[in-house]
Amino acid sequence: MTQINSNFLNLQGSYLFSEIAKRRTKFIQDNPQAEIISLGIGDVTRGLPEAVTKAMHAAVDELAVPGTFRGYGPEQGYDFLVNAIIENDYKARGVDIKSNEVFVSDGSKCDVGNIQEIFSTDSIVAVQDPVYPVYVDTNVMAGRSGLFDSGIGRYENIVYLDCTAENDFKPSLPDRKVDLIYLCYPNNPTGMTLTKDELKVWVDYARENNCLILFDSAYEAFITEADVPHSIYEVEGAREVAIEFRSFSKTAGFTGIRCAYTVVPRELKGFDKDGSEVVVNDLWNRRHTTKFNGVSYVTQRGAEAIYSAEGKEQISGLVDYYMTNARIIRDGLASLGLEVFGGVNAPYIWLKTPKGMDSWAFFDKLLSEANIVGTPGVGFGQSGQGYFRLTAFGSRENTEKAVERIRNLSL
Ligand code: MLT
Repeated sequence: MTQINSNFLNLQGSYLFSEIAKRRTKFIQDNPQAEIISLGIGDVTRGLPEAVTKAMHAAVDELAVPGTFRGYGPEQGYDFLVNAIIENDYKARGVDIKSNEVFVSDGSKCDVGNIQEIFSTDSIVAVQDPVYPVYVDTNVMAGRSGLFDSGIGRYENIVYLDCTAENDFKPSLPDRKVDLIYLCYPNNPTGMTLTKDELKVWVDYARENNCLILFDSAYEAFITEADVPHSIYEVEGAREVAIEFRSFSKTAGFTGIRCAYTVVPRELKGFDKDGSEVVVNDLWNRRHTTKFNGVSYVTQRGAEAIYSAEGKEQISGLVDYYMTNARIIRDGLASLGLEVFGGVNAPYIWLKTPKGMDSWAFFDKLLSEANIVGTPGVGFGQSGQGYFRLTAFGSRENTEKAVERIRNLSL
């Protein structure tokens, strides 16, 4: 008899965005005439930038002939892309990253989900609450959580760092020893940020307490305010304690193309069971080369094109478009008296549900009365109860229509 990994039985319900998709499909089946506006999962809607498609077409042509054909590439990414990342995303901000510290991959969801594999299953994990569910679920699958306590809606061995309006969505430092801390800034789902000084508190804490920060920076391109750091490595000492995850998904419309990267500095050390230091970069490289065969050449040429002058201009147009949507949602909902957060340095608007409604009840109300799909805050954790997330990644027309429909609801 084949025994399964019983940790999987400890997972709660289905993955948040699958559950939302299921409810959306059911609603459409029951109401085929409804004109649904999807502002749930953060999926982009504009086309790929022209610079990207041009580069990808050229790359496809190269692959058609033996002289320029390419098979397996380096698992960590081609030099042309790695160098463009280092020059533009780091050097331009005064951060020094070496080429053997960048690992190109097929998405941040995979990277933030896989990274935990290289740490002990005894590691104590801290997450912000609300939180991108992948951080928690992948640690549950690995057996790092205790049982789920349905009374409080949380796993036993996971340390939850509350982020609510009461603390301006800024978590306090853990009140017990932890090993791995997941931080996401600009934050998904709240859309809120930390200043450089506030982030330094976390870097100093990790250095003093021998823990690592897993810093998800997938929404970095949407930062508009000057005191918000774009990379955790802008903070002194972060190279010794932080791994950073970046994605092309939202910045350049790559949600369907798939390309991202992870930075693991050489200074970052873990410990073996005898207390000897281990270079984490070596282990991630080992894992990456064993389990992954690299992102396609065509995709990497497309990603490289984002850093051309033409590409940068087009990307900036995309970001402006989505951030204008964010302002339309934010201002529109605020004018109705709703409490809204985020949407200034991130493409997510986090709102307090009216009259203290439960998050899923508000989801149902919005879907049935306004035909709008959003994301219930509680789906991101208990501290998200009574909150709701809308994405700014819709089309302008749908964004404006959605705000108008909400205006017509009785809230
Ligand atoms: C979200 O909506 O939170 C994200 O788009 C999901 C993801 O990036 O996997």
